[in-house]
Amino acid sequence: FSTDGSTKARRTLAIIKPDGLLGNYTDDIKRTISEYGFSIVKEQIVQLGEATVKRFYAEHSSKSFFSSLVKYMTSGPVLVMVLEKDNAVADWRALMGPTDASKAKITHPHSIRAKCGLDTEKNCVHGSDSTKSAQREILFFFDELALGE
Ligand code: PPS
Repeated sequence: FSTDGSTKARRTLAIIKPDGLLGNYTDDIKRTISEYGFSIVKEQIVQLGEATVKRFYAEHSSKSFFSSLVKYMTSGPVLVMVLEKDNAVADWRALMGPTDASKAKITHPHSIRAKCGLDTEKNCVHGSDSTKSAQREILFFFDELALGE
């Protein structure tokens, strides 16, 4: 795809995490994605390995929850998607809701995490946190890495 600045700003990386896929939330989430005007540019279901997850979440490697996060993200398949629309990064973050799904249920009841998530780990979906992260994460899954290890 084109790598000019305007295109990058219009794309973000979204992941439906293991509990989202297992809990059969995929169709609902995809309906929401489309209702909010995103298009799914690329998508792939993949079973991530430990090394891949550790690289993907490298910025969190010193956090106390890191090993738990790695175990969770390798516990079953995930659906990785590139979403596109104006302001995709911020709009997808807003649609997901806060990291802690248990709090989202109170403060953002219509968000995806409120509907599909449980807590800060099992929070159903991921979204890039900036345009720069989105670039890295889209390349990580769809250009650099041989999916499935
Ligand atoms: S931080 O510390 O503010 O940078 O972390 P945060 O942005 O809230 O979360 C980063 C990702 O780590 C996951 N996370 C956790 N996993 C397991 N256990 C605990 N306690 C935990 N806390 C945060 C969180 O779901 C984020 O995952 P992504 O996929 O980036 O949303």
